Amino acid sequence: MRITVIGTGYLGAVHAACMADLGHEVLGVDVDWTKIDALSAGRPPFHEPGLDQVLARTVESGRLRFGTSLQEAAEFGDVHFVCVGTPQKAGSNAADLRHVEAAVGGLAPHLTRPALVVGKSTVPVGTAAGLAAVLRDAGSPAELAWNPEFLREGFAVNDTLHPDRLVVGVTSTGAEEILREVYAPILDSGDTPWISTDLATAELVKVSANAFLATKISFINAIADVCDAAGADVTTLATAIGHDARIGSRFLSAGLGFGGGCLPKDIRAFMARAGELGVPDALAFLREVDEINMGRRRRTVELARGLVGGSFLGRSVAVLGAAFKPDSDDVRDSPALNVAATIQLQGGQVRVHDPVAMDNARAQFPTLDYAPDIRKACEHADVVLHLTEWRDYVELDPEWLGSLVGARRMVDGRNVLPLPAWRAAGWDVRSLGRSAPA
Ligand code: UGA
Repeated sequence: MRITVIGTGYLGAVHAACMADLGHEVLGVDVDWTKIDALSAGRPPFHEPGLDQVLARTVESGRLRFGTSLQEAAEFGDVHFVCVGTPQKAGSNAADLRHVEAAVGGLAPHLTRPALVVGKSTVPVGTAAGLAAVLRDAGSPAELAWNPEFLREGFAVNDTLHPDRLVVGVTSTGAEEILREVYAPILDSGDTPWISTDLATAELVKVSANAFLATKISFINAIADVCDAAGADVTTLATAIGHDARIGSRFLSAGLGFGGGCLPKDIRAFMARAGELGVPDALAFLREVDEINMGRRRRTVELARGLVGGSFLGRSVAVLGAAFKPDSDDVRDSPALNVAATIQLQGGQVRVHDPVAMDNARAQFPTLDYAPDIRKACEHADVVLHLTEWRDYVELDPEWLGSLVGARRMVDGRNVLPLPAWRAAGWDVRSLGRSAPA
């Protein structure tokens, strides 16, 4: 099939490459020439494991190319996936739909033959119906569908080629048939559930899934506070409750909480839309979820400040991790960087290290000091903060690190360092949810 993908960020670039890998002819479109140049050369403009290979082979095959023209996209494609960002609106909890509206509004006048426009961006419920009206008002015979995306950064290629489920919101059987054809190579394998529904339900499935995940994380983080007060261990507790299949063990890692370009802004936009729909109380609990999550960052700063004697002034602080999660260079709403910047504002001399996210971190927080390796970040540090659980950090040798630092003090913001080994090496380790004395 001839497919276009509008928006080539973390979602669109992966989707475009994977659609081409499934055998389709794909044109990726973006307004950003830097991204287009990199992608056209077969180079991902961001860190995503496995994407480089898929991109290289699909660009090489001639099935995948990139450009900047929506008119060209309209002329080329029969199916147009809209994958642009929906960030939080400045000064509001709501989603900023400018890019989605520009993509569909820009395509509409050029869609002069039957085609399917498929939204993948995360949007407030009701957006798809409004975009369908944009197509109608432009006199276009194109139809609109919604096909939310559930990929996780760091696993994006695998999640796209082997999704847990495919959800489509459609208004005709023709639209569903087209989407079944797009995903035929995945569906043929036989084990991917296919859920076909209306536009509003499809939009809501996505935001509800992210709201549930955020709630699960904040739930275990709230329990972590009780564990700290009671001298209990939240990691053992999470393992134990996770064995109940009704609860499940995933997304029960307590610590610094969630960040990134999705969960934080999605729960806020969900609350905002519930308010607009006249049911603000229905999602009032998400405010608490958000509050618990932001409180993790404050608590992490407090733990570190306590370890260095109550003030960061004149103290050297090493921060391991800048990305919002491992295996990504995404620093959007990164809890790690938020903590690093707060400590710097409180007078600490902060040195940050991350295996891949340093350039993005520097662009967002240019006044922080960045160290080229773990050694440089930690040398003579008064306290080390482990804030993104990259494998390199989890596997650190406590003796080796201990020989570099000024004092063996650690805040394990992700609750993954093996505590007995660190404590045996003389480290004073604090964390959120297992701070009980050894
Ligand atoms: C999230 C969802 O998991 C995807 O299903 C969804 O498609 C995506 O948002 C999106 O809307 O585009 P992602 O933002 O890549 O994916 O990251 P997650 O793996 O969900 O992690 C989010 C944050 O939660 C990270 O900061 C992570 O460190 C934190 N987290 C995760 C915890 O603090 N504890 C956990 O147990 C799990």
